[in-house]
Formats: sequence, C-alpha cells, structure tokens
Amino acid sequence: MSSIAVAGANVDTRHWINGERVASAETFTNISPIDGTFLGEISRGSQAEADAAVAAAKAAFPAWAALGPKGRGEILHRIADLVEANIETLSMLETMDNGSLLRSHRRGVMPRVALNIRFFADWAINELHHEAFETRGHSNNISWDPSGVAALITPWNAPLMLATWKIGPALAAGDTVVLKPAEWTPLSASYFADLTKQAGLPDGVFNVVQGFGREVGAALVANPDLARISFTGSVPTAKVIARSAADNLTPISFELGGKSPCIVLEDADLDLAVTLAVEQYDNAGQVCLSGTRILVHENIADAFAKKFREKALQIKQGDPRDEDTDIGPQIHQVHFDRIKGFVDRAKAEGQEFVMGGEPNAELGGLYFKPTLVKNPAPGSEILTAEVFGPVLCMQTFSTDEEAVAMANGTEFGLAAILVSGNRERADRVSKQLVAGTIWVNCFFVRDLKAPFGGSRKSGIGREGGTWSFDFYADVKNTVVSPTGWKE
Ligand code: NAI
Ligand code: MG
Repeated sequence: MSSIAVAGANVDTRHWINGERVASAETFTNISPIDGTFLGEISRGSQAEADAAVAAAKAAFPAWAALGPKGRGEILHRIADLVEANIETLSMLETMDNGSLLRSHRRGVMPRVALNIRFFADWAINELHHEAFETRGHSNNISWDPSGVAALITPWNAPLMLATWKIGPALAAGDTVVLKPAEWTPLSASYFADLTKQAGLPDGVFNVVQGFGREVGAALVANPDLARISFTGSVPTAKVIARSAADNLTPISFELGGKSPCIVLEDADLDLAVTLAVEQYDNAGQVCLSGTRILVHENIADAFAKKFREKALQIKQGDPRDEDTDIGPQIHQVHFDRIKGFVDRAKAEGQEFVMGGEPNAELGGLYFKPTLVKNPAPGSEILTAEVFGPVLCMQTFSTDEEAVAMANGTEFGLAAILVSGNRERADRVSKQLVAGTIWVNCFFVRDLKAPFGGSRKSGIGREGGTWSFDFYADVKNTVVSPTGWKE
C-alpha cells in the first residue's frame, strides 16, 4: 500500500523524488505514541534513494536559481497558502505521529509553518541587501547567490516546524532541497511534499527521503554534490555528520541540544518565575530550548518551590488530541526508556526526587510524570546530560556571581531564561551568560528575523533573517573599478 489514511487524511508512505513518488523494497513501521496505534509502513530509504534525490535536486537547481527571489517568492507564497488551508489536517497528522498537542499545532505551530515559508520568501525579495561601499573609488557590491543542493536533516520533536525553518530560507535563497525527516515522524513532511506539487513547485526542487539516520541519512550527508547540510538533533549524531561533511568540505549548520538554565534572582516576580519554570515541561520536555536547570536564589527558594509544586501538579497529562491536555506522551518507546534510564540511575545515586520520577501508571504507555530533582549532586548525570523529557532540576544560589557560574557551568549554550525585577541587574547578569538566546522575564519569544543557534556544543552557526541566507547562499562581493569603461 502506497498511502495510508491517518486522521482522515491520505498520506503517501513513499519518498518524494523529482516530483514523483518512489517506493523502497523495504519499509519501517510507524506507530502513534498516543496509544501505540499502528499508523503504517513507510518506505525505508538507502543509498539509492539518497543518490536519486540529490541528483534530482542538482538537475533542478539551475532553473530554480534563475527564477530569482520574486519568481521563487510567488511559488513559496502559494505553498504557504496551502499550508494555511490544510492546518487542520497537518495538525492532526503531526499529533498522531509525534504526540504533541493538537491545540498548539492548530493555533501556533502550523500557522508558524506557513510563516516560515512566507517570511523567508519576502526577506529574500525585500530585505536581503547590503549598501554598496567604496574602496578608493571602487564599489563593493554584495549579493547572496544560490549555492546548490541543501540537505536538511530534522528531528521528531517539532517535525514540520523545524523542517520549514530550514526549507523556507533554503528555497528562498535559490537552493534546491533534500529533506530527511526523523524516522519517528515521517508523515507531515510527506503531506507537505504534496502541497509543494499543488503549489506548482518545479519537480526536483524539493525532495523527501524517508528512513533511518544511519542508512538513508548517512548516505545523504556523504553525497559530494551537496552545497550545504543543515541539521537539528543530538550532539553524537552531529559529530558523525560533521566527519562525513569533512570529506567533501560541505558547509554545515548545526542546532543541537541544551541543558539551559532558568535563573530566578532574589528580586524576581515569583508568580512570573513559577509560570516560566513550569512551562519547561511543555511538549513533555522534548524541547531543545528547555530551561531544565532551575536556579533559584536561596532566600526565595522555599516559597518558589511551594508555588512551583502547586502549579506543576495542575498540569493535565493525557491524550494530546484533547483540548484540556497540557502534556502528552513521549515520542517513542526507545526514548521513553532513555528518559526512564536517566531517572532510575539518578534514583540509584540517591538523588532527591520531590515530584514525579516515574511513568504515569494511570495512563500507561509512553506517559511519564512531570519530574523534579532537588539539589542534584554537582557533576551528576541528571544535572549535566540532556534528558529531553519532563525532568527538571532545581538548585539554589546565594549571589548573582554564583548564579552566573552555575548557569554557564555546562558544555551547552543554547538558551537561558532570566527572571528579575530589576532592569539594570538583569542586564548585567544576561551579559555574562553564554547562550545563543537569552530570555529575560519571558520564554519562547522567537522572531524569524532574530539569529538563532547555540554556543559551545549547542551548535555551529546561526539561522534566522539574513543569518539564514548567509548560510544557505553563497555570499559574493563584486568589486567594480571606476576605470576601464568604454562608454
Ligand atoms: P538524532 O540526532 O539521532 O536524530 C535527529 C535526526 O538525525 C533524525 O532525522 C535522524 O534520522 C538523523 N540521523 C541520525 N543519524 C544520522 C546519520 N548518521 N547521518 C545523517 N542523519 C542521521 O536524535 P535522536 O536519536 O532522535 O534523539 C536523541 C537525543 O537527541 C534526544 O534524547 C535529545 O537529547 C537530542 N535531540 C535534540 C533535538 C534538538 O532539537 N536539538 C531534537 C531531537 C533530539
Ligand atoms: Mg510516529
């Protein structure tokens, strides 16, 4: 069977290569984390499909590049229109496939998917320019030229949202694309491919290969015909991809994990601090940006902990299709076991669990209770490793300097949340934090114009606004002399 019905929508289970569906002899099983429902058998790509997709993208590149930002923008806006017209279907598909909240897909995520496409299409047309400047009478003229085929490797925690955050700027820059979605969430990318066809995107400009990272993913990133590789996922996989990219000197952009701090200074608005801290359980903790280390000033720690517990215990865990559910299941049994492994080892070490620390027995399946570890031992695994589940650590500090040292005491540097009632103090502390994004008295405000990425092991490079084009395009300077002209 080459297509499956999920939540009333027909989703093709094959690859999308050169504007056509291509099947593999082998398949892999896709299940829903909500209740283990079998969703379908998906084509399991290998070397042949990776090669075919890159060849198609390479062949489609000259014509797509030649269209220019305006020509490309018209088609990209039609794709965004179709995403908007299909928000309900895309939302249901994504919820069935990865277990995140239907209500947030409907209201936030899928509209944002459309915006990812529109924003970068418009940015290429309207904003992507640099004033020419003179050097001894010569003018320097900067342009962002299409670079070739971009391979995009994406994770399962926000599948279509993270994919389009790359697809939008890559296509707007004039690159052609091969997308490899995560094997746990193949559906929304496949459905999106149909929308690109309906929108009139020329064949071969956008391709999707399905399958496992170590198979079709590895074959894809090793292809010498790639101009770019953009990856969001884990540090160990990033190292494998970087080694492979090194052979061809393919430029890479990496957005990796984090163990971000959520710092609550003594002068913080306590209710705001609690609200922001409890939000770190969103998406069942499967968020790269999560502030999983809550650092609270010792003088307010007891009051904070009391309020935190009250609020966190109100989190409603359940079926992500229900309107009143706050957090759903973990993505997959393998990931659930990984999270439980972190928690069980921390228990064996004698760490203090003040909330959760176990699967939700009432719900069964892949539901893990929101968990809080108090004062974990310095250097312990639960405090230093990215758990990527509903597991937060809480520690106390006595001075701002100590808070900064604890916040920065990690190999990561993706984000930091800072809660303070004093602007001058917040400014001073945030200047000392090492992270790609600092949120002061807020969380998750993400403008597509802003640079986004990680410091240290949380990533290489920045995407967003012009930064995206600096990566996906070939930035070129044409220096024109005042002399030598015959007219
Ligand atoms: P992963 O990094 O292995 O997978 C991400 C993507 O990379 C998937 O599409 C996968 O198929 C692909 N991939 C894997 N090996 C590859 C290879 N050799 N060549 C090319 N592509 C390859 O992440 P995984 O195993 O799903 O999750 C493990 C941990 O990674 C999580 O527990 C979490 O800590 C972290 N993670 C971080 C994310 C983020 O947003 N920064 C997203 C997902 C996971
Ligand atoms: Mg799935």
